[in-house]
Amino acid sequence: MNKLLPLLIGAIGVLLLATLMLVILPAWQLRTSQPPAQLQPYTEQQLFGRQQYVANGCIYCHSQQPRSTGQTLFDGARGWGRASTPGDYFYDTPHLLGTMRTGPDLLNVGARLKSRDWHLTHLYQPRAIFDWSIMPSYPYMFDVKDEAAQDDVVVRLPAQFQPPGGRVVVARKEALDLVEYLLSLDRTYPASHEELQKRDRGYDHRPETAADGHAG
Ligand code: HEC
Repeated sequence: MNKLLPLLIGAIGVLLLATLMLVILPAWQLRTSQPPAQLQPYTEQQLFGRQQYVANGCIYCHSQQPRSTGQTLFDGARGWGRASTPGDYFYDTPHLLGTMRTGPDLLNVGARLKSRDWHLTHLYQPRAIFDWSIMPSYPYMFDVKDEAAQDDVVVRLPAQFQPPGGRVVVARKEALDLVEYLLSLDRTYPASHEELQKRDRGYDHRPETAADGHAG
């Protein structure tokens, strides 16, 4: 019984320390974050698409955080763009950093894959583009119709992936919104000096080179 008090004080101490290190200090460090001038807030359609990204678990295979050269040389070499900084996520609530990289990092996918048609085909059937792809297909974001209506967006597919009988695959709102979101992912503008300081303080002491601040 007489050990209860030290135990309680110890437990509360650990909890307070964890709150300080994991909640209060990070919030304090990022308190002055401002959106970079070149970063636009998401439009309503892009936000709907972002919800599709969350709902369909894209985050389980895709990160949105290219790393700095101090952490790895691969991200830049793969063309995933410069390492991200806190301001790049100004409009992201909640953030979708992700940890798994079964597929490529997507923070700058809108800068390297700009075609809506490409993304629609890829979402409908990744194997129509890369026969080796292990990305799941998302057919429920599309309708198969006898004939496309005037404002339908028809998905372009190689012959072997087209539905039989001359029917067409058209994108549903979910697919169109998701692609709008993907196309908006572009943080290739140069990061400001202040942002670079915020990113590298604490774990990457390498002096910044010009290449680090620009799209890789
Ligand atoms: C099971 C893992 C997995 C899931 C879940 C997944 N992907 Fe992928 N994704 C991959 C792999 C692997 C590739 C690389 C091969 C390819 O392009 O199909 C890829 C490639 C991509 C690419 C092309 C990127 C580039 O730079 O070439 C985009 C865009 C993409 N995925 C978007 C999505 C979206 C949006 C979702 C959710 C609807 C999603 N992925 C879910 C594994 C996954």
